[in-house]
Amino acid sequence: MEKMIEVLNLRKTFGPARSLLRRSGKRRQVEAVAGASFDVGTNEIVSIVGESGSGKTTLGRLMVRLLDPTSGEVRFDGKNVFGMNKTEMIRFRRNVQMILQDPYDSLNPLFSIFASVSKPLNIFEKHLSRREKEEMVAEHLESMGLKPAEQFMHKLPGELSGGQRQRVSIARAMMLKPKFIIADEPVSMLDVSLRAEMLNRMKKLSREGGTSFLFITHDISSAKFMGDRMLIFFRGRIVEQGKTADVTERPKHPYTKVLIDSVPVPDPERGASFLNIDDAGGSSDESYSTSGCRFASRCRFVMDRCRRAEPPMFDVGEEHWASCFLYG
Ligand SMILES: Nc1ncnc2c1ncn2[C@@H]1O[C@H](COP(=O)(O)OP(=O)(O)O)[C@@H](O)[C@H]1O
Ligand code: SF4
Ligand SMILES: [Mg+2]
Repeated sequence: MEKMIEVLNLRKTFGPARSLLRRSGKRRQVEAVAGASFDVGTNEIVSIVGESGSGKTTLGRLMVRLLDPTSGEVRFDGKNVFGMNKTEMIRFRRNVQMILQDPYDSLNPLFSIFASVSKPLNIFEKHLSRREKEEMVAEHLESMGLKPAEQFMHKLPGELSGGQRQRVSIARAMMLKPKFIIADEPVSMLDVSLRAEMLNRMKKLSREGGTSFLFITHDISSAKFMGDRMLIFFRGRIVEQGKTADVTERPKHPYTKVLIDSVPVPDPERGASFLNIDDAGGSSDESYSTSGCRFASRCRFVMDRCRRAEPPMFDVGEEHWASCFLYG
């Protein structure tokens, strides 16, 4: 499969530089993304699953260059995003969109929904008339279930619920038919009853428009529903990756097994089950160990060697890898 975006050994450390650490009192460094490598193919939907604090949002922000990495590369169409010139960056901004986890961050509270959603058109499709823009905005809002669109277009973000704002953000990201969308927990503020429907619409739109997708979530059920492939993220690292059916039916990494075993049986009253990984035990606030497997303190299978070195990715099936010494 042709690669749309490639992430190569990406790292992001927050906090004072090492040389300033001692002088800065208690503050420590947090390695939010700790050497992540993967790719997303053309027309492919990849889900990335991890608990809160595992570095998912940081990874997404790095990939759209809202943040600069400590090291590593992100390549779009073969070009390193962090080395792009102005013209290349304009093309990148048009083709790669991020749906932010909190739509408060992306919708200007002083602008109407129409003004926010039509902004990309003002930049990239200047030739359109006001009427054409209104039609496009209305069509996209309605495709996300905000009907009739006229009822929403002239409101301010503050007059909408969190879930409605999230749907506005999705509609806006889809507007320019980008080649690649990173959606960071895009339905987390929606009522459970609406989540499956919105995920369905996003999936349909991405299939029809040929848009590749990186779907970020803490919920393995929705990751399974959305993704052709699945990446399991734990403390800034991918610990397992493979085709969705392989990872969910034949999980290899002990962490993936915990995630899957703790998914509740679907409740027909609610339509689908959505597990919050944080309820599945374990805290994301444990100190980051500097050597060895980062899952060791929670692993039932921990061995001596697990504490000595970080496990590399081992082949555990067809296009299926797990970073665990049980397999190497
Ligand atoms: N701007 C920042 N400055 C300092 N630490 C940050 C910043 N952004 C995120 N972090 C830290 O990085 C880690 C990963 O955060 P985040 O990427 O938001 O995880 P997730 O989206 O999986 O919940 C957390 O420990 C968080 O506190
Ligand atoms: S490497 Fe060792 S500690 Fe880490 S997940 Fe595998 S068995 Fe558990
Ligand atoms: Mg997040």
